[in-house]
Amino acid sequence: MEAHVTAHSRYVIADIDNRLYGSFLEHLGRAVYTGIYEPDHPSADENGMRRDVIDLVRELDTPICRYPGGNFVSAYNWEDGIGPKDERPTRLDLAWHTSESNHVGIHEFAEWAKSANTEMMLAVNLGSRGLDAARNFVEYVNHPGGSYWSDLRKKNGRAEPWDVKLWCLGNEMDGPWQVGHKSAAEYGHLANETAKALRAFDDRLDLVVCGSSHSDMATYPQWEATVLESTYEQVDYISLHMYFENYEKNTAEYLALPMKLDRYIGTVGGIIDYVKAKRRAKNTVRISFDEWNVWYHERKNDAKRMKEWGWPHAPALLEDIYNFEDVLQVGCILNTFIRRSDVVRIACIAQLVNVIAPIMTAPGGSAWKQTIYYPFQLASRYGRGTALQLDVDCPAYDADIAAGVDYLDIAGVHDSDAGTLTFFAVNRNGKEPMDISISIEGFGEAKSVAHTLIKNDDLEATNTEKNPENVKPEAGKGAQLSGSRLTVSMPAHSYSMISVQ
Ligand code: AHR
Repeated sequence: MEAHVTAHSRYVIADIDNRLYGSFLEHLGRAVYTGIYEPDHPSADENGMRRDVIDLVRELDTPICRYPGGNFVSAYNWEDGIGPKDERPTRLDLAWHTSESNHVGIHEFAEWAKSANTEMMLAVNLGSRGLDAARNFVEYVNHPGGSYWSDLRKKNGRAEPWDVKLWCLGNEMDGPWQVGHKSAAEYGHLANETAKALRAFDDRLDLVVCGSSHSDMATYPQWEATVLESTYEQVDYISLHMYFENYEKNTAEYLALPMKLDRYIGTVGGIIDYVKAKRRAKNTVRISFDEWNVWYHERKNDAKRMKEWGWPHAPALLEDIYNFEDVLQVGCILNTFIRRSDVVRIACIAQLVNVIAPIMTAPGGSAWKQTIYYPFQLASRYGRGTALQLDVDCPAYDADIAAGVDYLDIAGVHDSDAGTLTFFAVNRNGKEPMDISISIEGFGEAKSVAHTLIKNDDLEATNTEKNPENVKPEAGKGAQLSGSRLTVSMPAHSYSMISVQ
């Protein structure tokens, strides 16, 4: 099978916002407790945070981390997580039917984020609470001093404000499962009033209003239109979520799902334009795709277990073990975001540690990289710069979700500072290798080429605590540069990063 690609320096999509490689950490399962925080762990730092996990997060190079939820935030009292730890209340978490000790709150998370070299993206509770709790939280986090909440922060040991710019106005408020779920009109009104109050405090904040939890929601896409008509001038981003499943074990259908993602982004992009025109608005709202990942391996088991247990603290929950097939999927998802980077400015892999996550930990034991760690890391490290509008000519197949799914999924990024041109490519064909020929035009003379390959003959191959390096990138063979022509051969069902300089 052959594919022909043209990359030209003048054919560009957008400068990629680095926050496209964001992440997400929720008070859910073992994400926080025995995930990032385990005071008795041999690697724990002075704050009780696992250094081994911090190292893996730093290597992942994720510029922002959304916190503290997720469904959790919709019944969360942020004040429970401040002050002396032994005086913090244990609460029942209604979203996940667990107990929350509140031993980690905003102070601990902020310290962790600094150590992990990531910026905080914070969510306020617009489910069980509203404008008042939100404005108090923002004042606590961002005001220098001389007010009740900022002075309390100082008393609790943090003199300087954290100056968090990016705030989510609730989470998945379209979902009937959400504590305090609302209609689009109710939520639009509340989000607008909350945004106005937060802007009265600081009009430089970046505010994210909730869009749909997924594109199969009955309220999609009217939800986006109604919510944006209520909030357009007050917000900067509309949030979208999507999780990917392969219950049928049908790889061709599974790997076609990013076409559905692409349509979802295109539709919401159109609604943004429509509302902007209708309101004669001067600002431009963009998409924050702040929850995405593969999520199905443990989902049904978890739903059953949650009905059976009492209120455990930090049980194993949503601990999907990812396989090699998921590497291909995550590669295609990230490529879709790069190709849509004109409208998708922020995206967060959901989540970061233990809970549907690229990083796993054993309590008291080691931390390791799941298979999907690698395509995320490669895109996050090398996918910064300008997204290129590639011309791609390759064979395609028809799937139920979409006709004409290219066997080659490819995105190109030009980093003019580093002088690199990098292609991220997935061969969706499980039977045949793909010979790719890329014509590189207008970038000046390329001198060297590097090829990184992720390939396993078993789509179900995983990384485990005992065998943590079963699936990992290796040096690819056979990428060649001849003048302005780059050729590379990709094995059937494989992921490649090819970089020229
Ligand atoms: O990431 C897991 C859950 O998925 C989040 O809590 C929620 O926002 C979404 O439904």
